Amino acid sequence: TYVVTDNCIACKYTDCVEVCPVDCFYEGENTLVIHPDECIDCGVCEPECPADAIRPDTEPDMDKWVEFNRKYAELWPVITQKRDPLPEAEARDGESGKLEKYFS
Ligand code: SF4
Ligand code: F3S
Repeated sequence: TYVVTDNCIACKYTDCVEVCPVDCFYEGENTLVIHPDECIDCGVCEPECPADAIRPDTEPDMDKWVEFNRKYAELWPVITQKRDPLPEAEARDGESGKLEKYFS
């Protein structure tokens, strides 16, 4: 599976949702997630993210992100259409510690 990681938080560009063939992105207030059981591993969303937040779970230390994505995909509504990024998206692209700021 591919997963959304911390740099999506507070940016939420949503370019990714337009290209997913199985509509497996889910939307929270501050970030999106991918449902790991629905993602077919096609990889087309990865280069679409301006924040480089989408990673394959084959990279090191991705287990916590798979669990994060699964947990919230089951709670949040599906998103299939692009919308405006969050207002501070550009300024906060690359900021560290966003996960801790928003999800602890
Ligand atoms: Fe959707 Fe493909 Fe990205 Fe998985 S890898 S979330 S199926 S676009
Ligand atoms: Fe987030 Fe990147 Fe999609 S910032 S909303 S994963 S395009």
